[in-house]
Amino acid sequence: MEAKPLKYKSLNGISEKQLSEHHDVLYAGYVKKVGEIEEKLHTVDISTANATYSDLRALKLEETFALNGVKLHEGYFDNMQQGGSECSGKIREMIERDFGSYQSWEDEFRATGLAGRGWVVLAYDLDEQRLRTILCDSHNHGGVWNSIALFIMDIYEHAYFMDYGTGRKAYIDAFFKNLNWEHVNKLIEKHHLA
Ligand SMILES: [Fe+2]
Repeated sequence: MEAKPLKYKSLNGISEKQLSEHHDVLYAGYVKKVGEIEEKLHTVDISTANATYSDLRALKLEETFALNGVKLHEGYFDNMQQGGSECSGKIREMIERDFGSYQSWEDEFRATGLAGRGWVVLAYDLDEQRLRTILCDSHNHGGVWNSIALFIMDIYEHAYFMDYGTGRKAYIDAFFKNLNWEHVNKLIEKHHLA
């Protein structure tokens, strides 16, 4: 697994320093750890498997933490762009269908950003064929199976502390000024969602 490059240097209200620490250090660290864990899983002693503590348990537990750390960060960085964009096209139609209006969705998504500790994900539930706003307190906590993550907001303090201190609300305002909805529409097309 290789770290994907960041497509921009800075964003409106999110500094280059903040983004480079987040992408080049933290995200790249998760990519590295996925490789390290996968390597160790080839040789781990499965005969000692134990649910209180065992090498296999520790590796399998942290495998999902690191792997989701990679996937969530890649989605987050990809759904931002310098200058932002208007929510339009298929994603707007789907949001209006499933949340009543674009504004109702945005209000709920922003509020979930204040209620959570790690991530907020706008996901498409493949079983119910509808969108859901999902709160995740940690990379490997809160995700829902059979869903596709379409739009992701990182709300860990490391995403904004350099620029905003503890001011998460101001960071969420900045995040919403840099959205790349075209990327979300491309995901909808790629996965043939409706
Ligand atoms: Fe992060």
